[in-house]
Amino acid sequence: MAIKRIAINTGGGDAPGLNGVIRAVALSAYREGWEVVGIREGYRGLLDDDPELLPVLDPDRVRGIMHLGGTILGTTNRGDPFNFPVMVDGKPEPRDMSKKLVDRFKELGFDALVALGGDGSMSLATRLLKAGLPRVIGVPKTIDNDLKGTDITFGFETAVSTATEALDRLHTTAQSHRRVMVVEVMGRDAGWIALHAGIGGGADVILIPEIPFRLESVYEKLHRRYQRGRQFAIVVVAEGAKLQDGAAVYKGEKGQFREHAQLGGISEYLAREIGRATGYETRNVVLGHLQRGGSPVTYDRVLAQRLGCAATRYLKETTESGLVAMRGGRTQLVPFSEVVGGTRGVDANDELVLTARALGLCFGDEPPGTFVA
Ligand code: F6P
Repeated sequence: MAIKRIAINTGGGDAPGLNGVIRAVALSAYREGWEVVGIREGYRGLLDDDPELLPVLDPDRVRGIMHLGGTILGTTNRGDPFNFPVMVDGKPEPRDMSKKLVDRFKELGFDALVALGGDGSMSLATRLLKAGLPRVIGVPKTIDNDLKGTDITFGFETAVSTATEALDRLHTTAQSHRRVMVVEVMGRDAGWIALHAGIGGGADVILIPEIPFRLESVYEKLHRRYQRGRQFAIVVVAEGAKLQDGAAVYKGEKGQFREHAQLGGISEYLAREIGRATGYETRNVVLGHLQRGGSPVTYDRVLAQRLGCAATRYLKETTESGLVAMRGGRTQLVPFSEVVGGTRGVDANDELVLTARALGLCFGDEPPGTFVA
């Protein structure tokens, strides 16, 4: 069926590059003669009967947005249409709004949806296809870079460069005060940001969810370093890093409309324990949403343009649904079945892990006596 009208939305946590993809889809689809309509705030624009929530994205509407962080469409991680918060007597109640969504999508004459998101958004896309949406093309977004089926997601390079710049800054103040600085970066299930920023920013310790750690191993690494005369250190920890007994540190609980409990606080815990056990003065910094905000770096801008134009191309050249993945440096349309269910974590034998170990970095899983003075 020839495409005439498509919808586009952004779901889950934002990431630098969302606006770039929106622009690329809008411009490339316009050249095909299609109309592109934005759905605001995940799927809310289709569920609330407010035309303001469905802006037409013609070339004028997407001018000058490529370098801007955030998303002109807004996003949410509380917008699951199968468990949608509907206000009843001033309180949000969960409702399955999938039928209304599919009906409205068809009434509005959309031939396909381009969904920008991570694993949560791609699972929703799969369920909505089953519920009757005609076609969905996913575009891989997440600063965590943990989406299965693709080598890279947009937003990741920007987050890594923000984290690396923070490490550079923390290095100088750590050195001045002879302190250990513990830097908490994002990464719920995957330690890609910690690993890249840790290596690029010259950290001494990298703690990630995939490699459970022992505090004693971290203490030993720090002692060896201080004994060698380098009397300051940088520890990078992903928010989802776990101790070997499986314990992670949380700030908030799962909610009725929140799929995941809110992580946060592991750097504070580590700073306290390191200070207490080693006697070295220790401070912690949480980079948090700084990693999600701001302008995308050039790599993410270019990636966003490639992925957005590829989404249009696959809509035109195939009749399939799936994720526009990057594999081996080229885009490829990958079935959602290869993408949903689980995340793509760091393998313990990944070359980057081996590189870091070869450089003497500590992951907190080393046996005693590993770090020689
Ligand atoms: O999925 C990306 C991510 O950055 C995770 O690493 C983090 O746990 C989460 O977003 C935090 O999202 P929010 O604060 O928006 O709930």
